[in-house]
Amino acid sequence: MNHPQPGIFALGTASHAYLELDASNSSLRPELVRTIASLREPRTTMEGVNLVAGFRPELWREVAGDDAPASPKGFDAPLAGAEGFVMPATQHDAVLWLSGSAYDVVFEVSMAIRELAGVATVVEETSSWPYRHDRDLTGFIDGTENPTLIDAPELAVIPEGEPGAGGTVLLLQKWAHDASLWEALSDGDQELVIGRRKTDSVELENKPADSHVASTDQDRFGKIFRRNMPYGTVTDHGTMFVGFSAAQSRLADMLVSMAGSASAPRDALTRYSRPLTGAYYFVPSIEALRSLAGA
Ligand code: HEM
Repeated sequence: MNHPQPGIFALGTASHAYLELDASNSSLRPELVRTIASLREPRTTMEGVNLVAGFRPELWREVAGDDAPASPKGFDAPLAGAEGFVMPATQHDAVLWLSGSAYDVVFEVSMAIRELAGVATVVEETSSWPYRHDRDLTGFIDGTENPTLIDAPELAVIPEGEPGAGGTVLLLQKWAHDASLWEALSDGDQELVIGRRKTDSVELENKPADSHVASTDQDRFGKIFRRNMPYGTVTDHGTMFVGFSAAQSRLADMLVSMAGSASAPRDALTRYSRPLTGAYYFVPSIEALRSLAGA
């Protein structure tokens, strides 16, 4: 039996860090995977910090061979949508997502990532924190249509018997909000952008076709599990989109839908928020990671 990395489902942590890394040179990539696999185990429980590790899908395949799923791909080309809107591709070799009860412990464990010195460098780093319990920085409740913790593993994790069992595909995308533009809208107009009520997240009866909820409708694209978090400062802030799925196509199809095309409207939310990064990572089971530790 293969088990997903437990941090994926560890809700309620108040402090997060996302570290994306590149191997110091391409010949060191397989060593980077083994180094991360080795550091993960003791750290899983250290200071109560959860550590989730993921890898460029092609790199994981190179190291894990037949145990890896065949289809997931890195976010290697920008995604162009309607009216000149583009989602950038900023794929890296690996990601570490740390979460814990407070930033000091998350920081301390992040600093231990120095063990990777010589093998890899941290090239993208974001820290995150919850805002008003479960809202994102648009002020709306984020995660309403998430599957429950009972259902989420079944929907987000590759089932037993398939290559990559116990693993999942992560889409990590950092979105900067245009707070001035967003705040200039009335609550009613913001609700038309999201497709839900601001106070209690009830879905609008006649939500516009370009609302965010219509653009990402899980009845159309399939279920995903989101762990989005706010990030940033007064002058520069937004949403870390953190989405997991057993099938990459669900996430990729949602992005195409959000970007819009000649025949489908662009997600209204993309007029108030723009993606700064975009990368896919394969997040292997704990057993698959353990088999590489020290290998
Ligand atoms: C600035 C970035 C984003 C923000 C602020 C945001 C915020 C929200 C909010 C407030 C909701 C409604 C409540 C809920 O069900 O959670 C929602 C729904 C959803 N979002 Fe996003 N989101 C963002 C980006 C994305 C991206 C990039 C994806 C997919 C790749 C996505 C997928 C979804 C899905 C699947 C739903 C539920 C749709 C349904 O009702 O079936 N979101 N989001």
